[in-house]
Amino acid sequence: PPLEDLWDANDFQIAAKNVLKPKYYASYRTGALNEYTYQANLGIYSKVRLNGFSFRDVSNPQTSVSILGHNFTQPFFIAPAANAGHANKSAEASLARAAGRAGILYVPSISSTLSIEQIAAAGFENQTMFHQEYIWSNTSQVSDELARMEAAGFKAIFLTVDNSGINGVRVRSMRYTDESDTGHSTSFSLSALAGFRNLTTLPVVPKGIKTWQDALTCLELGFPAIYVSNHGGRVVDGAPTAVEVLMDIRKNAPQVFERMEVYADGGVRTGADALILLALGARAVGLGRPAMFANIWGDAGVDKLISLFAAELQTTMQLMGVQNVNQLNTSYVNTGNIVPL
Ligand code: FNR
Repeated sequence: PPLEDLWDANDFQIAAKNVLKPKYYASYRTGALNEYTYQANLGIYSKVRLNGFSFRDVSNPQTSVSILGHNFTQPFFIAPAANAGHANKSAEASLARAAGRAGILYVPSISSTLSIEQIAAAGFENQTMFHQEYIWSNTSQVSDELARMEAAGFKAIFLTVDNSGINGVRVRSMRYTDESDTGHSTSFSLSALAGFRNLTTLPVVPKGIKTWQDALTCLELGFPAIYVSNHGGRVVDGAPTAVEVLMDIRKNAPQVFERMEVYADGGVRTGADALILLALGARAVGLGRPAMFANIWGDAGVDKLISLFAAELQTTMQLMGVQNVNQLNTSYVNTGNIVPL
């Protein structure tokens, strides 16, 4: 389908299914096991109500945010996702360029099609990118990759901590190929975490936080930020959604929001979904599959996804009486339909 016919992230996914080889569509689309968490990620936003206030001047909407001290035009970013090359030959380069043109953050995966250096080179001169990493069982691989990320100009590391032992069981994808990945360290521990931090001077952000206890541990260990995520439902089937985890942290460890930056993702498909996570305390929100699917149309596809999403976010914000995304707080959401964890 031509790009002109695609009007939101869901359109991109439907079109992607018709265009991609089935095994590649499955590898992007799959969740773990029954895909309950995959479905819950999408469905949770329908249970939250956004409150709107009418008597406000919203003529000059502001969407920019700072993330670890770097300024971006939008409070959403492109989350790390492996193998962008399944969508097209330019792979992560299209994602980097589109993010750069829009002034948003892109965080490439360490399991990318292109190398660390190729992705850095695809970006624009003054573009800020972060990079994702895992704790591999091979420690020298980790230190080598971190050194390359630093040298290539990446400004922070998202350390994924939710599938350190082994990948989730992704049945939809296993039908085509064995997705199992045995390179991850199965001995992830607090000392492994400390060891990882010592290998880089860049700020490290644990990605995949799903409990208030782990959020508090990260605060106590002095991390500048955490990233609430269940890996798009691809790891533990049954894991809670970002909405539930943010609510749980707010209830049991509210100081986390005062003293660290919090990012979140999972099932965000519209600007309104993103506003829900922002109102619950996220500073920025990640898009996983939508960017991978948009990338089938290359640079132009990712540009269009970002601009559609930005327009949805801005329009919804204005309709809610919100002038600046930084204003969002829990007074803008009603989560009464959700049973607390
Ligand atoms: C991912 N995700 C992911 N996360 C990570 O830290 N490193 C990785 O290499 C990958 N790879 C990956 C591949 C694919 C195909 C997907 C869909 C996801 C998880 C990703 O960063 C993010 O947490 C989720 O994708 C967010 O959920 P949505 O937006 O896809 O619903």
